Amino acid sequence: GNGAAKAGKSRNIIEKLEETDKNCVVFYGSQTGTAEDYASRLAKEGHSRFGLNTIVADLEDYDYENLDKFPDDKLAVFVLATYGEGEPTDNAVEFYEFLGSDDVSFSDGQSVDDKPLSNLKYVAFGLGNNTYEHYNSMVRNVDTYLTKLGATRLGSAGEGDDGAGTMEEDFLAWKEPMWADVAEKMGLEEREAVYEAVFEITEKPDLSAEDDTVYVGEPNKNHLEGSQKGPFNANNPFIAPIDESKELFTVKNRNCLHMEIDIAGSNLSYTTGDHIAVWPTNAGKEVDRFLSILGLNPKRHTVIAVKGLDPTAKVPFPSPTTYDAAVRYHMEICAPVSRQLVSTIAPFAPNDQIKAEMTKLGSEKDYFQEKVTHRNLNLAQLLEIESNGEAWSKVPFSLFIEGLVKIQPRYYSISSSSYVQKDKIAITAVVESIENPGNPHVLKGVTTNYLLALKQKQHGDPSPDPHGLNYAITGPRNKYDGIHVPVHVRHSNFKLPSDPSKPIIMIGPGTGVAPFRGFVQERAAQAKAGQNVGKTVLFFGCRKKSEDFIYQDEWDQYKEALGDNFVMHTAFSRDGPNKVYVQHQIEESADEINKLLEQKAYIYVCGDAANMAREVNTILGKIIAKHRNVPETKGEEIVKAMRASNQYQEDVWS
Ligand code: FAD
Ligand code: 2AM
Repeated sequence: GNGAAKAGKSRNIIEKLEETDKNCVVFYGSQTGTAEDYASRLAKEGHSRFGLNTIVADLEDYDYENLDKFPDDKLAVFVLATYGEGEPTDNAVEFYEFLGSDDVSFSDGQSVDDKPLSNLKYVAFGLGNNTYEHYNSMVRNVDTYLTKLGATRLGSAGEGDDGAGTMEEDFLAWKEPMWADVAEKMGLEEREAVYEAVFEITEKPDLSAEDDTVYVGEPNKNHLEGSQKGPFNANNPFIAPIDESKELFTVKNRNCLHMEIDIAGSNLSYTTGDHIAVWPTNAGKEVDRFLSILGLNPKRHTVIAVKGLDPTAKVPFPSPTTYDAAVRYHMEICAPVSRQLVSTIAPFAPNDQIKAEMTKLGSEKDYFQEKVTHRNLNLAQLLEIESNGEAWSKVPFSLFIEGLVKIQPRYYSISSSSYVQKDKIAITAVVESIENPGNPHVLKGVTTNYLLALKQKQHGDPSPDPHGLNYAITGPRNKYDGIHVPVHVRHSNFKLPSDPSKPIIMIGPGTGVAPFRGFVQERAAQAKAGQNVGKTVLFFGCRKKSEDFIYQDEWDQYKEALGDNFVMHTAFSRDGPNKVYVQHQIEESADEINKLLEQKAYIYVCGDAANMAREVNTILGKIIAKHRNVPETKGEEIVKAMRASNQYQEDVWS
């Protein structure tokens, strides 16, 4: 794409490095922000420890044809996330296709055999999830392509595993030896790292948070000026009215929300099986905790201008703003604290004793696990405990902008059919609330508890906020009188066959049933409209029939429309003496499933990636092997081929 060119920015990384007097570029391919965050951290550390002058670069902002001109005294770092089924992240698609193409050619017209990248020195780290089949394929393939093109990797290519929950530690473990290799091979001298702020924060006493030029949560200028304008996308959410909301569970201590989001007039569109992204707001309780422990509470509404001290540093939110708004709307303050951030903060502790403890936490992995990770502490909760409530007023605010991830939209599998309701998107979300024995705090999922608060407000619940989470419901400047939520739509490949007469099998325990409500809703409507709809088989599982059997009453209605062509198998894991899971029901219907698959039924799996999706995959291979009388390895291959041809589709998350 030429987005950057349109904005008048150069897409030439070689020129950019020269012009800005840099000797290192950290490219990132990021979907949810983690790779981008790691890229910034590497850039910063390279500078403070080794004097590298670095640009952090979004892969989609640059051209690659000129990488053959990359100077041999500079370094390229690639931080690359693998997404879904071994795919590149959206911003890395072009780069990946370019490097991997059979007839890749560079500015000098050299071909692969001429080793056109023999000047390029690089290191690489991948972010992946071992519950997916193509684990870290992005970094592995890019590394192979670069090597084939003659580039030299300094040090090993690192791989982080989100599936095992070790991403951060994998990253820390990779980067120490990597820095040693880079320093040795590039002749860099390590110096004592001193913290250097990336951003300058200027307080503006002449401005007030009420001024209409100050961002107090508006995501961009259009929103600030009071008129939301499309196109709405990942950089520009639509603030959508919530038409309807209700509770789907019948138990008191767990919540699952159904919400209908109105997108009429927004020009947003979706098709059944897409995802909706919800832009969260942090709970007031956590914003208060964060600002208080930093000693910023008294001036939380002071207006601040935030600017990169280096012209290549991007401020991750609009400015001028306030401390309160920056924290509430833009920083992921509730996420687990990173060990590296703890080390960075240590020198700014209120006293030497706390400083020593923070340094120990930052440098000892096991100690950190025990004291922080296992207790699910977020940053402010940790700081409160460490200082016994004394304010950490010496920490520069820039350090948090650098060290915390910018808040990320959360995705939900749309649970309605666009054929039935094109202007209304349904969400089915289970509210995250995790109690932990070693922790005084209940871990409250940021977005799902925000949605719960919106629902409670909409219903005028008598005791709406038992945990005192205190979410800002009406948006910046109390602008929205009704109940609203910022959203955008992401299109997916998780799609019904275009011919409704084709049979389908759906497997979705828990909230994994979300997209299948949309699928079945669609096929029921098609049947009512007189279309020929094929066999529609759904496997659903939950704990107890009387507690979390979501949409129980709706399935009967769909059955009326679809007749015997709709078959639902249920697995209640906690109703009887033994756990019954969807896999068990699948085994019981093995014969039927195999027959449907031989008739080219589409099969869909949605929900938990960590265990369920993998186990279902295995069972299917076994069923196919048994019923077609072939070895199990052959069964596995058939499943693989079904995935490759999209006969087998997954929409899973961990
Ligand atoms: P978060 O605040 O993001 O917390 C999520 C988890 O992170 C916690 O449960 C905990 O394990 C961990 N965590 C957070 N803070 C800490 C801490 N301080 N210490 C330790 N661990 C911590 N969900 C649905 O309910 N329905 C859907 O249909 C659905 N579809 C999805 C589709 C896709 C493609 C994807 C990627 C995800 C989907 N999800 C769905 C999951 C959803 O996006 C969210 O991840 C989920 O709702 C939790 O969001 P949250 O903001 O409430 O929780
Ligand atoms: P459990 O929590 O009683 O173990 C929705 O979460 C349903 O999926 C619940 O009934 C849950 O059962 C079940 N479940 C848990 N682990 C699973 C797995 N590995 N495969 C299939 N279902 C699972």
